[in-house]
Amino acid sequence: MSLDPRPYSRGELLYQGKAKQVYATHDPARIIIHYTDGATAFNGIKKADIADKGVINCRISAFFMEKVAAAGVPVAFERNLDDRDQLCLKVDIIPVEVVVRNVVAGGLAKKLGLPEGQVLSAPLVEHFYKSDSLNDPQINESTAVVLGWAKAWELRAMHEHALRVNSVLKAFWSELNIDLVDFKLEFGRVTVGTATAVVLADEITPDGSRLWERGTGRKLDKDVFRRDLGDLSDTYRELYTRVFGKAV
Ligand code: CDP
Repeated sequence: MSLDPRPYSRGELLYQGKAKQVYATHDPARIIIHYTDGATAFNGIKKADIADKGVINCRISAFFMEKVAAAGVPVAFERNLDDRDQLCLKVDIIPVEVVVRNVVAGGLAKKLGLPEGQVLSAPLVEHFYKSDSLNDPQINESTAVVLGWAKAWELRAMHEHALRVNSVLKAFWSELNIDLVDFKLEFGRVTVGTATAVVLADEITPDGSRLWERGTGRKLDKDVFRRDLGDLSDTYRELYTRVFGKAV
């Protein structure tokens, strides 16, 4: 904790994302992530405001960050300050996105001509270069190391953390009769003195996951918006109720 007794509040806007904003605080080691109702797809081509999405995602992400932290994954998340603001450690984001897949869908189905819904024999871990201007191209770990985006040990830590997150999330959703198809994670570096640790950053929400209702295959994630399958606000409210046992 900071020794400065002032309460945390949003300071300078550091980063304007698609669904979130990042603000500085009086504490140089901490930032506030502010969740908005904005939704985008296809790298910002499709945009809308989805009622209450920010509140729902802020609470869902906090819930899962606490769960994975309890399972031993270091996280930048510290606590929710209110409905939309989340206090997190400030990290140096590693520009390599990690996608974990349990079932074929989306980009993988398209790239390899596989049917969506094919269950993978083991979790598949993929890497993408975090670049909006290049549309997040897929890379491998060697590319990341050679181009200096991440060290080999950092990629090993990311891999291990991602698989542990997958185990925790998959088991949780399974209890609710929902299959965790895939999800994306981002990691960052936290440096204390001369020591650097890799921690899970960003969010764990249905914006960055695919969640299919078991039996019906009904989509309970942002694909509802991407593919015009229904009302995303209703979908997220339903998901919230299933997770927390009460309406938002
Ligand atoms: O979404 P798309 O089909 O283009 O890409 P994908 O590689 O199949 O996405 C795998 C998972 O990562 C999905 O759950 C996406 O929601 C998530 N993802 C994300 O959150 N952000 C990205 N920039 C790309 C994928």
